[in-house]
Amino acid sequence: MGDTPWWQGAVIYQIYPRSFADGDGDGVGDLDGIVRRLGHLARLGVDAVWLSPFYPSPMVDFGYDVADYTGVDPLFGDLASFDRLVGEAHALGIRVVIDWVPNHSSDRHPWFVASRSSRDDPHRDWYVWRDGRPGGEPPTDWISVFGGGPAWRHDPATDQWYLHTFAPEQPDLNWANPAVADAMLDTLRFWLDRGADGFRIDVVQELGKVVDAPEGVAEWPQGQDWPDGHGIMRRVRGVLEEYDDRMAVGEVYILDQARLASYLVTGDELHLAHNFVFLRQPWDARRFRDVIDEFTRLAPPPAWPTWCLENHDHARVASRWDEDGRGPDRARAAALLLLGLRGTAFLFQGQELGLPDAVVPPDRIVDIDGRDPERAPIPWERPSVAGPGAGFTTGEPWLPIVEDAERLAVAAQRGDPRSDLALWRRLIDLRRTSPALGPEGAQRMVDAGDGVLAWTREAGDERLLVAINMSDAAVRCDLGDLGGGPGRLVCSTDPDRPEGDEALRVLGLARDEGVVVRLG
Ligand code: NOJ
Repeated sequence: MGDTPWWQGAVIYQIYPRSFADGDGDGVGDLDGIVRRLGHLARLGVDAVWLSPFYPSPMVDFGYDVADYTGVDPLFGDLASFDRLVGEAHALGIRVVIDWVPNHSSDRHPWFVASRSSRDDPHRDWYVWRDGRPGGEPPTDWISVFGGGPAWRHDPATDQWYLHTFAPEQPDLNWANPAVADAMLDTLRFWLDRGADGFRIDVVQELGKVVDAPEGVAEWPQGQDWPDGHGIMRRVRGVLEEYDDRMAVGEVYILDQARLASYLVTGDELHLAHNFVFLRQPWDARRFRDVIDEFTRLAPPPAWPTWCLENHDHARVASRWDEDGRGPDRARAAALLLLGLRGTAFLFQGQELGLPDAVVPPDRIVDIDGRDPERAPIPWERPSVAGPGAGFTTGEPWLPIVEDAERLAVAAQRGDPRSDLALWRRLIDLRRTSPALGPEGAQRMVDAGDGVLAWTREAGDERLLVAINMSDAAVRCDLGDLGGGPGRLVCSTDPDRPEGDEALRVLGLARDEGVVVRLG
């Protein structure tokens, strides 16, 4: 592997701590619960975990409203539990990436409490305060991501408005103030010193915002990729470079791959960026092909691709792509899509089980933005064995468990070679042991006929074909041009398909089937 950094070949598993495993029976997951379940992750073969926020928080946005950037909310444990988690994960060869939420804090953060206390407070300028427009109008027409109302709240105590791109309880920090930048960058060092292997950075594209329109411009556009954000990412990178081998992956939520690539191509900003253009595609081979081709064209080295189809903000693929009940098969094929492409692969907890979204009745809704269904707790044991908490908790789970937990639980899938869990393990193992699927493996997209997404990976004398049938019917692909004799089927998402020789001129694929074929 030479000098290839660890994160290029990595499979990174997102843990949403509230919903992964509850160690103390209060119905909410915690860090000790994660420690107890690390064996599952080691057997799955992941290289790293990304932990969604566990900081002290009033939980208006379930931790993305941070009241202390250098602590652990008692609900999740304490700094000692974090240290234990890092120690045990590292002992298993699993790195720990944590979430960093620099765009906004909680309104309970002492910085904001001070900031709102008076116009003269030394922390006033740590947040974005402006006078309103005449007639009691907010300073600009910017809209909040949550709820669609104004992104400004009037604070009667000082008769000014503060900016909140998200909930009113999440005031935006003022990154134009050098003191804010310095203090926030120090929070990175705090966790790096404690052994964190890197950060997932929340809403990168918002950081460099410029609120005041230049002379002659009525209003500055909102939610764009502000140039100053790049400077901030360079400073973040500089902090990571003070340490060995750390990584920053940005949530760069811009649906434009050129702008996404701009955070990667210079090599002195983010190492990786989640690609939401890819994540948001329908189940359509042409569309995926176009996105992959475009990214490859726009993001040459040192940029590196990142592929991700689920997280805690989006419906799960088994539900999102469930037209005609095809979601479960497509979720299996999605494993191939993530793990077969050249790039870093991110999966969301429960994706390895093929979990669908949970059904959340109106009286159990807790999220401000409709994201409860994908955040349902992990079913570890069969409810018939472990009770209604399905091994996630001995108490009342904070969100309902998925309906089919009896069949989908880890314990139900563990010994079943046909299960989704077995498929993910198999593919992660293949990715680790096959040079062609590793970071050094070249990738070439292949024309395999309408509705089929196909590509080859190649390293040394190993050559693999990955093909996924996204069309509405079984197909026969003519891949004879790939040369050599017959290929050898290494793995199919159809557990009944036997391994062995396959004639490439008539490679058959069932609807929603994906295969890996070793080429002669
Ligand atoms: C993106 C996070 O993924 C999401 O969960 C959160 O609500 C917003 N950023 C605000 O922090």
